[in-house]
Amino acid sequence: MGHQALHAPQEEGAGEGVRLFEGPVYLCDEGFFSDSPDLPWVCHLQTAHRPDARKLVSSSMGAWLEKRLAQHGAVLLRGLPIRDSKDFDKALRYLSIPLHDDLAGNSRRKTVRGRIYESSRLEPHHVLDLHNEATYKSSPPRRLLFCCCIAALDGGETPIGDSHKVFRRIDPEIREEFLRKGIMYVRHLDQTTTKYLQSWQDSFGTSDRSVVESVCKEQGMDYEWYGEQGLKLSEVRDAAVIHPATQQWCWINQIHLSHRTRWIRTGLIADGLEASAYPTGTYYGDGTEIPDEVVGHIRRCWFKEEKIFFWQPGDILALDNLWVAHGRKPYYGTRKLLLAISA
Ligand SMILES: [Fe+2]
Repeated sequence: MGHQALHAPQEEGAGEGVRLFEGPVYLCDEGFFSDSPDLPWVCHLQTAHRPDARKLVSSSMGAWLEKRLAQHGAVLLRGLPIRDSKDFDKALRYLSIPLHDDLAGNSRRKTVRGRIYESSRLEPHHVLDLHNEATYKSSPPRRLLFCCCIAALDGGETPIGDSHKVFRRIDPEIREEFLRKGIMYVRHLDQTTTKYLQSWQDSFGTSDRSVVESVCKEQGMDYEWYGEQGLKLSEVRDAAVIHPATQQWCWINQIHLSHRTRWIRTGLIADGLEASAYPTGTYYGDGTEIPDEVVGHIRRCWFKEEKIFFWQPGDILALDNLWVAHGRKPYYGTRKLLLAISA
């Protein structure tokens, strides 16, 4: 890791706040990993007293983290004694991060405690390409916090990538077409897709169809009930946004992740079936097909920006969801990764 000189011990803020780990947290060092000079920014923390380190107190930790996220988009907090969801919950309170639920989300993830979720229930061999979380929603989350309780024996990394850089990599003609038309996301939530996505009951936290319908209307989603338990959702969203802090375009979407070819190329579902056989699909905003080669080009642009680090137990990875996308590598062995979502 590239070391950055730390100044003399300095206490940030004052006041009691929530006392986690029975005392303050010390920032020992911060910088980039030497083999990954732009993502993520790494802060080495510890709870044991360190006279040469900077003392951080809970009351200012939220602002402290925000400042780093605003500079780097992805911040890895390493060294905290976090081993389970209870510890993570305390850490989030220490960091003063307000949490939100995953209403109308796709991912199969169980609630572990309050608003802390499993990161994903997808089987270990599944790959998740880089994506910005829930960009099919009218208001995608602004902050994601992953916490590693158990690192897999092999694999299971959470690759990350800069959405500004991906935007610049996309062929300008392709980019323009998406900026003009937007993206239509289609989801099929039924008995056959629960292997990959949540059921509509889990996604909306209710089995009352009228509640689902009012959430859809509120979030600008079209809905259609089919069969016994099927719900088709479709929504048109922007392919890119200008980041409010950097004032630069970010390619924030799930064109490649939700496209039919994702299910085919990973061997999960056969090619050549009806569109409704695939849990998700993406189209141009006017409902026309996106050519497979365009999706392939977009996927390659993401691959080029993929950055990998290796999880250690206790790590918290904080992401600006518009700026930095995330994915998941396949793994072997037990892996326990938690997720909290913030506005
Ligand atoms: Fe995700």
